[in-house]
Amino acid sequence: MYAYAADPSLSPQAFYAELVTAADGLTKDEPDGIANMANLAALIWQIVPDLNWAGFYRRVGDELVLGPFCGKPACIRIPLGRGVCGTAAATGTTQLVPDVHAFPGHIACDAESRSELVVPVIRGDEVIAVLDLDSPLPARFGPEEQAGFERVAALIADRVCRTG
Ligand code: SME
Repeated sequence: MYAYAADPSLSPQAFYAELVTAADGLTKDEPDGIANMANLAALIWQIVPDLNWAGFYRRVGDELVLGPFCGKPACIRIPLGRGVCGTAAATGTTQLVPDVHAFPGHIACDAESRSELVVPVIRGDEVIAVLDLDSPLPARFGPEEQAGFERVAALIADRVCRTG
């Protein structure tokens, strides 16, 4: 068992540096991509406050398919270009959504979600997955969260997988 604890007095930069270090430690020696996604979702869920969903969708063909996550059961398949996750996957760019109700085509898997951050996981020049964070708080995510989770996504791009 791993016990990571976030220090509430840390600056956002220091907090995300710790998250990246913890993510590195959890995944660097493990070749199984599913195990790594599962542990990363659990790590984020454990130490990042005010989330109601944290996890992965994998790019499989023309769709995103649900991967390891923490939170309520979620939609399983999302066409590329649909919703926040499908937009991140289709464009290869992070989607920072302060108000999900203002995002055209947002897919409401959990009615409690108010804001969302979706970071593409890019290997080479291909989006192989997205890392999706949802919060019940409006505008939970800002540029510091975006930068932090983009570092996590870059770190783990070679350590996760699309299918078994
Ligand atoms: N809200 C996402 C769907 C995935 S769930 O939030 C877990 C979207 O619009 O793509």
